[in-house]
Amino acid sequence: MHAIHQYQEFFISYLENQSFNREPQNLYRPIDYILGLGGKRMRPVLTLMAAEVFDTDYIKALPAAMAVEVFHNFSLVHDDIMDDAPLRRGNETVHEKWNVNTGILSGDAMLILAYQYFEQYEPEVFRDLAKLFSKTALEVCEGQQWDVDFETRKDVTIPEYLKMIEYKTAVLVAAAMKMGAIIARTSETEANLIYDFGLNLGLAFQLQDDYLDAFGDPATFGKQVGGDIIENKKTYLYLKALEFSTPEKALELEKLFTLQLDDNTEKIETAKAIFNQSGASKATQEAIEKFTFKAFETLEKLNIELSKKEMLRTFGENLMGRKV
Ligand code: IPE
Ligand code: IPE
Ligand code: MG
Ligand code: MG
Ligand code: MG
Repeated sequence: MHAIHQYQEFFISYLENQSFNREPQNLYRPIDYILGLGGKRMRPVLTLMAAEVFDTDYIKALPAAMAVEVFHNFSLVHDDIMDDAPLRRGNETVHEKWNVNTGILSGDAMLILAYQYFEQYEPEVFRDLAKLFSKTALEVCEGQQWDVDFETRKDVTIPEYLKMIEYKTAVLVAAAMKMGAIIARTSETEANLIYDFGLNLGLAFQLQDDYLDAFGDPATFGKQVGGDIIENKKTYLYLKALEFSTPEKALELEKLFTLQLDDNTEKIETAKAIFNQSGASKATQEAIEKFTFKAFETLEKLNIELSKKEMLRTFGENLMGRKV
C-alpha cells in the first residue's frame, strides 16, 4: 500500500496524460476545464486504495478511477446548472463561463467518456464494472430529482432526506470502492463490505457538505457559501432546526425557505442563526460522527490486514476534519 497523498499523485499524473483537447472545442474545452480545476479527487483515490487493499496493483484500477472521476465531474456540471451555482472549486461554473447549453452537452459527453474507460478491462470485469456503474448512475439521477423535489416541499422527513443523500452522493463513493474490489476479483462478501464502508462514509460526507455549505469559510470553501439556503434545500441542518425549534421559530424558518430573493444576505444570516441556536448544527456534527463510526464498524468485518484497516480508518478521519 502507498500513502493516501501518493494515490492522489498517481491519479493526477494519469489524469494529466488524458487529453480532451479535441474538436469541436466548444464541446471539449469545458471538459478539460472542469477536470483541471482540481478538487479533492476522493473517489478515484478510494478506487485505487480499494484495489490495493485487496492485493491488486493500483495501476490496474486507474481507468476505473478515471471513469468515476469523470462521472463525478459530469454530475457536478449538471448539478451546478440545477442549483444555479456560480462557483465551483473557487472558479466560475461551466454554465457561467460558457452557457447552460454548453453545460448540458459537455456534461452528456463526459458521461459517455466515463463509460469508455471501462472498455480497457477484460470482458468479465468490464461487465461487472459497467453493471455497477449503470445502477449507480441511475440512483444518482434519482437522488438528484428528490433533492430538487424537496426544494418546494414542506413535509420532508429525516428518513427521506437520508435516502436522498444516499442516492445522490453515497452510492458513488460506495461504488468507487467496490470497483477496486471488482478489479481485484474479491469474493462478493468482501466487495459488499467495502461498498457498505463507502456508503456510510458517503453519507457522512454529504452531511458534512451540507454543514460546510452554511458554515464554510468563503475564502477557502470554493463554492458559494449559503447556496443551499438560497435554493431552499431541505438539508439535515434545516430539518433538525425545524424539529428542535418552538412552533413560532419553526414557522419563521418554514416561511424563510419558501422565499426566492435577489439579495439573500439577511436570509442566510437568519437561517444560520436558527441552525446554531436550535442545536441543529450540533446534531449535524453528531450525525457526521455517527455515520463515520458506522463505516468503521464495517471495517472490523473485512478480511484484510490490520494496517490496511488503519489506512481506511485514517481516510475516514481526515474526511471528518475537512474544511472544503
Ligand atoms: C461535491 O463533491 C459534490 C458532493 C457530492 C457533495 P466533492 O466535495 O468531492 O467535490 P470535489 O471533487 O472535491 O471538488
Ligand atoms: C451534489 O450535491 C450531488 C451530486 C453532484 C450528484 P450538492 O448539490 O450538495 O453538491 P455541491 O454542494 O454543489 O458540490
Ligand atoms: Mg450543488
Ligand atoms: Mg445539488
Ligand atoms: Mg452541497
